[in-house]
Amino acid sequence: MKAFIVDRYKKKGALRFGEMPEPEVRDRDVLVEVRAVSLNPLDAKIRDGEFKLILPYRLPLILGNDVAGLVVRVGSRVRSFKPGDEVYARPAKDRIGTFAEFIAMDEADVALKPRNLGMGEAASIPLVGLTAWQVLVDRAHLAAGQKALIHAGSGGVGAFAIQLAKHLGATVATTTSTANVDLVKSLGADVVIDYKKEDFAKTLSGYDVVLNSLDEDTLERSLNVLKPGGKLVSISGPPDVGFAKEHGLNWALQQVMRMFSFGIRRKAKRHGVGYSFVFMRADGGQLSKIGALIEAGVIKPVVDRVFPFPAINEAMEYLETGRAKGKIVITLE
Ligand SMILES: NC(=O)c1ccc[n+]([C@@H]2O[C@H](COP(=O)([O-])OP(=O)(O)OC[C@H]3O[C@@H](n4cnc5c(N)ncnc54)[C@H](OP(=O)(O)O)[C@@H]3O)[C@@H](O)[C@H]2O)c1
Repeated sequence: MKAFIVDRYKKKGALRFGEMPEPEVRDRDVLVEVRAVSLNPLDAKIRDGEFKLILPYRLPLILGNDVAGLVVRVGSRVRSFKPGDEVYARPAKDRIGTFAEFIAMDEADVALKPRNLGMGEAASIPLVGLTAWQVLVDRAHLAAGQKALIHAGSGGVGAFAIQLAKHLGATVATTTSTANVDLVKSLGADVVIDYKKEDFAKTLSGYDVVLNSLDEDTLERSLNVLKPGGKLVSISGPPDVGFAKEHGLNWALQQVMRMFSFGIRRKAKRHGVGYSFVFMRADGGQLSKIGALIEAGVIKPVVDRVFPFPAINEAMEYLETGRAKGKIVITLE
């Protein structure tokens, strides 16, 4: 089958378009004919070799972490899906490879595609939707009446997280540049901080939750926004011991993660707030719940540009400008 492949880790290296064997279909797997995928900064980081320690892939590797497509075959023990089902998924981290004609995934990681979305829009959802869910619902337990700051509201994660936080009943503040103020307002943000004109750390206070997806300076200044007992949750690092344990990393790597996060944990403690890192995981059950919110019109996909499959390298370059509004989608149809 045709696929986009990483042969060796290289910063900004182009993906090779080539032939790879069709994936093996295990007992609990569904084989999906890929109709659309979306790009994530994670794809670029894996290609660059940044995740070598945490995700030791065997090369050559088919890249890609989001998919929507058609089930064409199921393993002998699959109960929830049948050929012909339209599905979407973020495959498990050790079974990525959506930039291809087919991918096999455990049925537990897959959900039926929301009926009101096309394949391209559906492929834009899984990784960012699950990330927002696992931060705001699972980790922060964001509740009605609370205040949440979502950084980078116009990005893939931010655009979804604003809508989810509003659905949970929170008051939502977000940071963005002047060009994207109207977009984040349309997604429901109550307070918009244009980072070109204002400093969020001086403007906002008394928040319950901050979702950080930006740099270390933003992470540290976010402490000023939180009230005592508040929660600072980062998805852009630094990783902590809880993450290392959850992902089965060995004792030595656990100590490395403890060291990486030592500074921010100490500062958070001084502010009387909690710090933790989330690395999202595949979860078909959560994707079904997200699908229900999408079908109810509560959450809408935000797609910036759509590229054809052969143009994935061009799409990766656009991703790496860091300026995308919502998601970048690739269609195979
Ligand atoms: N740990 C996890 O499980 C996990 C999961 C998903 C993502 N992530 C990480 O989270 C980060 C964000 O991911 P993403 O998919 O949302 O990225 P993205 O869609 O590529 O983010 C692009 C957006 O970021 C905004 N942005 C850039 N600098 C900003 C700033 N200083 N203040 C406010 N907004 C800014 C840009 O808006 P402007 O043009 O207006 O600046 C743009 O709309 C990445 O580092 C990614 O690797 C981690």
